[in-house]
Amino acid sequence: MIIKDVETKNLTPVFKIGDIPIFGDVILAPMDGYTDHPFRLICRKWGAACIYSEFINGLDLEGKHPPHLSERLFYHEAERPFGYQILDDLPERILNTARYLRSRNPDFIDINMGCCSRTVCSRGAGASLLLEPDKVSLIISKLTAELDIPVTAKIRLGWDEKSRNYLDIARRIEDAGASALAVHGRTKTQMYRGMADWDAISEVKQALRIPVIGNGDVKTADQIGPFLHHTKCDAVMIGRGAVGNPWIFARKNRSDCSRQEIFNTLKDHLFASMEYFGENHGLIVFRKQAINYMQNDWLSPDLRREALTTTDWHRFLSIIEQNLLS
Ligand SMILES: Cc1cc2nc3c(=O)[nH]c(=O)nc-3n(C[C@H](O)[C@H](O)[C@H](O)COP(=O)(O)O)c2cc1C
Repeated sequence: MIIKDVETKNLTPVFKIGDIPIFGDVILAPMDGYTDHPFRLICRKWGAACIYSEFINGLDLEGKHPPHLSERLFYHEAERPFGYQILDDLPERILNTARYLRSRNPDFIDINMGCCSRTVCSRGAGASLLLEPDKVSLIISKLTAELDIPVTAKIRLGWDEKSRNYLDIARRIEDAGASALAVHGRTKTQMYRGMADWDAISEVKQALRIPVIGNGDVKTADQIGPFLHHTKCDAVMIGRGAVGNPWIFARKNRSDCSRQEIFNTLKDHLFASMEYFGENHGLIVFRKQAINYMQNDWLSPDLRREALTTTDWHRFLSIIEQNLLS
């Protein structure tokens, strides 16, 4: 899929990550298993101002690279500004991973300090880092001392309700030389339960001088303005609200899109997926995205089942087209 570079010559950046200008205030969140290269292209096309990779696990770069690694590492120039996100626990290995990723010429390197999965946290990576503030300082200062591109981090509010240490962590990250910080307004133990705490995100914004990107529970275009107004963040980062809904980056709700527009986007996304992963695998990978593009009342249960199991992309598209556009 060819995407024209966004014309930015005469635009004023909304903010900068280090010296990288960011021409917008709505950013795609990194989402393991979802924000693959095809989905990122679609989101960029709809106006996502900045792109993060799915997390790159430092362990995967050691020894024999697992088969999926090259798919996770690939990015296209059209995705810029583009940052690699690293997930790991050991400062030295994070540094080695960052050195390698730097050689692939991203715009910035981000450190994951928010992943709440049990396997990640049990090895001391992701949100577990929030329990070790000195390690957070060490990781960021090592990277900023070594790299010639901006270093950023993405955090949660703390491990649990009793240890909401987000202000300490945020200040340490800034003091260690980071160029921006993304904050998901939940603790690790909350996982995805409850609502993101926009007041806490706003406290981080007030406490820091570097740009703060707020994140959590912005699911519709109508929530973008109130979120930015409430938190005063430099940008909002959108994750789940973008899946099957990439027009959110153009501040449009699904109800603002014509059926043809929805169909065209779904088709572009499917074709991008097949171009990248190959025809068969591309369709299979696309299914989890397709579920989110579909509205419950679009298809009868039988047709829905067929659409989500067929291995024939022509059949898949004709089911969607006949039912969406008729
Ligand atoms: C399926 C899934 C995968 C995720 N993978 C990552 C990841 O790789 N790195 C990361 O920092 N956060 C990851 N997150 C967290 C999101 O980036 C984001 O912080 C969270 O979903 C809250 O934002 P939202 O309410 O806009 O979805 C993931 C979330 C989901 C739902």
